[in-house]
Amino acid sequence: MNPIQAPFPATRLRRTRQNEGIRGLVRENALSTADLIWPLFVRSGEGVSEEIASMPGVFRRSVDRMVDAAREAHELGIGAICIFPYTGIEERTEDCAGAWDPENHANRAIRAIREAVPDMVIMTDVALDTYNINGHDGFVVDGEIVNDRTVEALVKMALSQARAGADIIGPSDMMDGRIGAIRQALEAEGHQNVMIQSYAAKYASAFYGPFRDAVGASGALTGNKKTYQMDPANSDEALRLVARDLSEGADMVMVKPGLAYLDICRRVKDAFGAPTFAYQVSGEYSMIKAAAAQGMIDEERVMMESLMAFKRAGCDGILTYFAPMAARILG
Ligand code: PBG
Repeated sequence: MNPIQAPFPATRLRRTRQNEGIRGLVRENALSTADLIWPLFVRSGEGVSEEIASMPGVFRRSVDRMVDAAREAHELGIGAICIFPYTGIEERTEDCAGAWDPENHANRAIRAIREAVPDMVIMTDVALDTYNINGHDGFVVDGEIVNDRTVEALVKMALSQARAGADIIGPSDMMDGRIGAIRQALEAEGHQNVMIQSYAAKYASAFYGPFRDAVGASGALTGNKKTYQMDPANSDEALRLVARDLSEGADMVMVKPGLAYLDICRRVKDAFGAPTFAYQVSGEYSMIKAAAAQGMIDEERVMMESLMAFKRAGCDGILTYFAPMAARILG
């Protein structure tokens, strides 16, 4: 863009900032509750809602409480939620069979919410880390996170979620070839309307720290995820990953983490024009909460500014733990 403007004083750029009315008229981006996806953590039990120590204001909920949260989201105008399972060490195995168990917490939550709040768009998480004894997103064989065998398991996991009534399958595992394999399996089983939001550009990030606590993986994880998640130094590679996933049948793509990767959001949106999402991840959330709790920043204003930044960077929507708080302000 090459803006044409007269020299000062003919051009005074402050003219269009002089009051709220004119600022509203020239505002380039808007945030609405319809842009938000609220990530929720489901666990075993009944009537349980436990706060996550590293994520103040975020809870692990039993299925009945998940239904309450979905109702709350609906009332606030939030159109979509994303379900992550919390699993204790006793629920984790080497074969990760819990991942495609139709009765696992996540699948039970999908069915219960589908029935109680039929309009809610329900997104899932596809990766083995929450069922894996070693906390990795794929099977570990002789110290290697193996790709193709993992993809077969991810397909089973995705199908169990589609059968439970999920609207959007969210593969967060970063294995190669999983989007095509999942898409093919969904078509073959008649789930042609089930969408895939690929975690296409997902970085090996320290910003996921609090999440691993939330899902019970921090103690479990051995080593790191650098052989499958992206190197934070790379940007062109993100475009290759997004291109690949779109060509395999992803309906939407995600960049993750969010704020530190806004340049990637913009490049992805400009290059492909596909529905583009960012995940404002656990560490981003907890940093704002912690600074606000110390009285160092204004929580609401920093939160809203951070969410607007995603819209400005070209994102269509945002996964954020702030969703209900933001919706209350927007509403
Ligand atoms: C794992 C997964 C992670 C997150 C979503 N899915 C963590 C990881 O890759 O280790 C992170 C979300 C967050 O930090 O809020 N499949």
